[in-house]
Parts: sequence; C-alpha cells; structure tokens
Amino acid sequence: MIERPRGTRDLDPAYLARHTHVGAAFRRTAESFGFRETLPPTFEPLELFHAKAGPGIEDEMYVFKDRAGRDLVLRPEFTAGVLRHYVNELRNAPKPLKLWSVGPVFRYEEPQKGRYREFWQYSCEILGGAPLDADAEALALAVQSIRNAGVRQTDTRVGHIGMLRSYLKVPREVQNRILHALDKRNFERLHTELDGAGLLDVEGTLREIIALRGGPEVLRTAADLLGGAGGSGFDYIRDLLDRLAAYGIRDGVVCDMGIIRGLAYYTGMVFQIHSPNLGAEDQVGGGGSYALAELFGGDPIFSTGFALGMDRIVLASEVEGVAVPPTTLDAYVIPIGDAVRRKAFDITANLRSTGLRIDVDLIGRGPSKNLDYANAMGARWAVLVGERELVGGNVALRNMKTGEQREVPVADLASMLGIDKPLMGGVDFQ
Ligand code: HAM
Repeated sequence: MIERPRGTRDLDPAYLARHTHVGAAFRRTAESFGFRETLPPTFEPLELFHAKAGPGIEDEMYVFKDRAGRDLVLRPEFTAGVLRHYVNELRNAPKPLKLWSVGPVFRYEEPQKGRYREFWQYSCEILGGAPLDADAEALALAVQSIRNAGVRQTDTRVGHIGMLRSYLKVPREVQNRILHALDKRNFERLHTELDGAGLLDVEGTLREIIALRGGPEVLRTAADLLGGAGGSGFDYIRDLLDRLAAYGIRDGVVCDMGIIRGLAYYTGMVFQIHSPNLGAEDQVGGGGSYALAELFGGDPIFSTGFALGMDRIVLASEVEGVAVPPTTLDAYVIPIGDAVRRKAFDITANLRSTGLRIDVDLIGRGPSKNLDYANAMGARWAVLVGERELVGGNVALRNMKTGEQREVPVADLASMLGIDKPLMGGVDFQ
C-alpha cells in the first residue's frame, strides 16, 4: 500500500460537496464586492518569498530545484504571487485593483486537525485604494464571505502592527524577528532578540501591549503605552470600526493588540478571524495592509487583503451543521435485458442533455442488484427500461424512497424528473 504524503488528504465526495458549496459562496461574495479572479502559478521562484515572507513562513516552505537547477518553491500563499503579477503586468490597470484567488497552498507544518501541509486558501487583495476605505472593504469582504458560507460563530480581532513597528525603531529585519517572537509568544526568544537590538527596556511594554484585547479603549491604553508611536493607530482603528458598522458588521469584532500575524509584510491594520468550534487551530482567516510591490520593483501602492483557510471554514460549517445541497442522482437508468441496452443509453443521453443528474448501468447487472446500486448512490428515481413497456413508448419509473412504481411515456420522463415538478400524486420525494 502506498501512503499519501504526511499532512495531505484525499478529499472524498462528501467533503468536496461541502468544499464546493463554501467555494461557491466565496466566489459569489467576491464578485458581489466587485473583485475579479486571478490565479498565480502553483510554483514560483524561491526569491519571490525569500526574505519577504518572514521567518515564520520561510522555514515552512517546500523548496526544490527543477532539472535545470532553478530554485523553486511551492506557493505557501497567494499574496506575493499576485503582487508579482501586478508589478510585472497589471501596474497600469485602473485602480483600485480588486483581485481574488482560490486554490491549494503548501507549508511544511506539523500536521494536526485543521493544520495541513497542503491546504486551500481563498485570498483577496485590494491595490491602490485609500487606506481606510480599502481596509474596511477587505475586512467586510472577509466577514461577509464567511457569513455567506453559512458559518455564523466567529469573532474578528483587529489590531495595528504599524503601531508596534513605529515604536520599534530598529531596521525592518530586526523588527520582523522581534514581531515573530511576539507572534509565537516565545518570550525567551523575544528577550534574546531585544537584547541583541539594545531594546531590553521595551520588553515589559511589549508584553503588556500584546495582552490588550477589548473595545476601542484598549487601543487608547496601547497608544498611551507606546507614547507618540500609538496615536494615529488608535484613531484609525476607531474610524475603521465605525466604517464596518456601515457594512452591517457590529457584533463579534474586538480590538486586539496581540494580533501580530505570521507574515512579515504587514505594515498597518491587521486582523484575524477565529471560530470557537475548531479547537487549537481556530484561526479561519487573517490579513491586513502590507507593503510588497516595492520589494518586487514596483512603486509603493497601498495594499490590503486577507486569506481565509478554506479547509477550516469547511470544518466550521460541518460543526455548525450548515446544510449543503445534496449532489445525489436524479435518476438511475436500468436496462432490463440486452435487447433494450442501446435504447437505455439513448434515454440516458436525452435526460442528461436537460441538465438532470443521470447514471446508467455499466455492468449489465440484473434489476434487483441494479436497484441496490441506485439506492446506494442515493438516486431519487430508477428508470427501468423493459421491452414490453417500450412497445407502448413507455418505461417504468420507480420512486426509490417509497418503492412506488408506474408506467410513464419516455417522452414525458425529463419533465417528470424535473426537480421542481411535483411527482406522483403531488409529492416530491427528494
Ligand atoms: P495566513 O494567516 O498565513 O495569511 O493564512 C491565512 C489562513 O490560512 C489562516 O488564517 C488559516 O485559516 C489558513 N491556514 C494557514 N496555515 C494553514 C494550514 N497549515 N492548514 C490549514 N489552514 C491553514 C496569509 O496567507 C496571507 N497571504 C493573507 C493575506 C492576504 N494578507 C494580505 N493579503
């Protein structure tokens, strides 16, 4: 037996029905906000992420050489690829540019429930908007996408990494190492980094700040603790929360100065969305405003966005019992005997052309075995094609739930199987 690689999954039809349902909600929501779809490649040059994603992601990348010796990486996220695409080909496109993507990404993490080495992200970016308007639009899209997927129980935590960055007056790379230690709540490492940077005097303040969570007043406290570095961040988040209310987003949003984010490119507002139903890996999405275009040779442009962990939203949707439309068969066609086999395929093709979900016996089993199979596949109806009925232009239509069966004209089959048509005495047994 060949095992699949650690941290990967075989997504089965039941899981994919829910995954597809969630994906359809994401697509609908992104389009309703005026976003257009884009898709960077699955693998990228290593330099796209090297020294840009930050210490958190860099240790987790799937790095490999191709046959020509190029250093490549399986994308650990979409944002860097989308920004490369923007700088190389889309920089003259009308602003703001609102782009979304969905697909698998790869990170060499320690696998557990909700944490995989191959997982799906739904990722959205706004490039070239005014900061407050664009940040609020991105955050509102994240929250609305989750709602439209049917998941209700989440809380949104909004922070401001810019406040911490302007407080830490050291080169960006040193900041990133300090912020990474803070993000991981690795206080030993934090101490070492601060010591190395000659910043031991701020250790207590940083630890105090990341514990602040609550209403906008916690930002006031943070601003006071940070001195001059914190003032504008406080006003900004207060205005952002006010703008979110215009989108109908009032409840379930808290200010949280402990939101540091694992990626190094964030510069201003940052946020995370959590589900209380997922155990340890409860972060279903995160994002914020960032600076990347200039690292790829473009002009600076205000950039903000987020990604949702699609697998975690699927899990949350399952835990919350969100109903997913069944993808069962409308009918299963059973030829009774070889003489009618060709006709059964003719009927099948006709029914399929109307958009109904139709399967047909491909083994030549007897009727009772075929009915068992139809049952196992969740078919709503069985169409039994027999020589005797065909003489009169009919087939037998069997309701798989009740076992009720009657003769119907072949010509009427499609309309009788139509989902909205009341069938058999006005009862649709779906
Ligand atoms: P991120 O927080 O690294 O952000 O990932 C976004 C989401 O992906 C997380 O909130 C989580 O739900 C999900 N996720 C992360 N790792 C795993 C894993 N191993 N297994 C399952 N799900 C996981 C980004 O990737 C940024 N590019 C978001 C962004 C876009 N910021 C600005 N624009």
